Amino acid sequence: MNKDIERKILLNPGPATTTDTVKMAQVIPDICPREKEFGELMAEIRKDLLKIVNANQEKYSTVLFGGSGTAVMESVVSSVTSKEKTLLILINGAYGDRMKKIAETYSIPYRILEYEWGKTINFSKVESYLKSNLDIGYIAMVHHETTTGIINSIESFSELGKKYEHTLILDAISSYAGVPIDLEKTPIDFIMSTSNKCIQGMPGLGFIICNKKKIYNLKKIQPRSFYLSLYDEYINVTKTGQSRFTPPVQVIYALRKAIDELFVEGVKNRYKRYHDNMNFLRKGLKDLGFKFLLKEECESGILLSIIEPTASSYSFEKMHDYFYENGITIYPGKLINNNTFRLAIIGDLQKKDLQKIVMEFKSFLIKSSLYENIYS
Ligand SMILES: Cc1ncc(COP(=O)(O)O)c(C=O)c1O
Repeated sequence: MNKDIERKILLNPGPATTTDTVKMAQVIPDICPREKEFGELMAEIRKDLLKIVNANQEKYSTVLFGGSGTAVMESVVSSVTSKEKTLLILINGAYGDRMKKIAETYSIPYRILEYEWGKTINFSKVESYLKSNLDIGYIAMVHHETTTGIINSIESFSELGKKYEHTLILDAISSYAGVPIDLEKTPIDFIMSTSNKCIQGMPGLGFIICNKKKIYNLKKIQPRSFYLSLYDEYINVTKTGQSRFTPPVQVIYALRKAIDELFVEGVKNRYKRYHDNMNFLRKGLKDLGFKFLLKEECESGILLSIIEPTASSYSFEKMHDYFYENGITIYPGKLINNNTFRLAIIGDLQKKDLQKIVMEFKSFLIKSSLYENIYS
């Protein structure tokens, strides 16, 4: 532990708690990102990002963009869709809804199938829809809907893509590297994520794993965005080894370190650590009397949506401030009909952190006269 860096526990769904070694990896001699050395670093990272989801290098390639998760969502939605075919967006949370807003912004032909937020997508209904709507050419979905912590089946999604030969777009922003994804078993054409969630790096870099065959077809589509044109960025990086625009240099050095640490831990073990931690927290909170939004079988295993206390002495702000003063950041909910708050169990969290979190919940409940009185 570096004595100079105070340890904080982030339970917001990214940026996540990072190791000190990842933090320190940002401190490097100044370097121009046009240097060969930096180009080699980017090339290695682009390959390693494929390995994390078992994507074969012959079939897939990675494109990086300086920007947050929404930037890469916007890049894919605006670059991949032609005017001739319609994009079908499967929505069961705020991030599916965000893809709809992006499609609207770029006047992309789209339709939605919306499911209750907190309920899984009904793929047999999606299939019936596809059978009678032959204009659909693309389907977009969020893997882990961070709004609630629900996981949507990539197996069913990939199956539909194969069967109907539609281009598949997956927002895996909050699941990539935290929930195992295997593109050999479940092929998907475009997958977006970022450097700052389950990969445990710093915020500032978004990336897209792209099916190479599909990306070449994008040549026919007029770019709707200059900066975020996926095709132009791909062509440039494959020809020159460089980004068209200034990349977040130090974030990329930290990402190198974060990927090295991920490879040491392994994605399956990381998922197990997150999931074990979440189960510990779930049990601890349940014993204190808290109720949860989702049925356990729908949960991603890495984020909890908790029903907010109804007792009059409760306020989320007070609870937030109590935890924040104790080095822990908790996060509000995003639902309209249900009052929830969220705890994302991602990042460099160990058992002792979870013990501290449960202990602080107990102290907060006692201090706020909520102990054994949460939902009265
Ligand atoms: C599933 C999902 N998609 C997209 C985003 C947007 O990412 P950003 O806030 O980095 O733009 C988030 C952020 O939490 C997310 O969880």
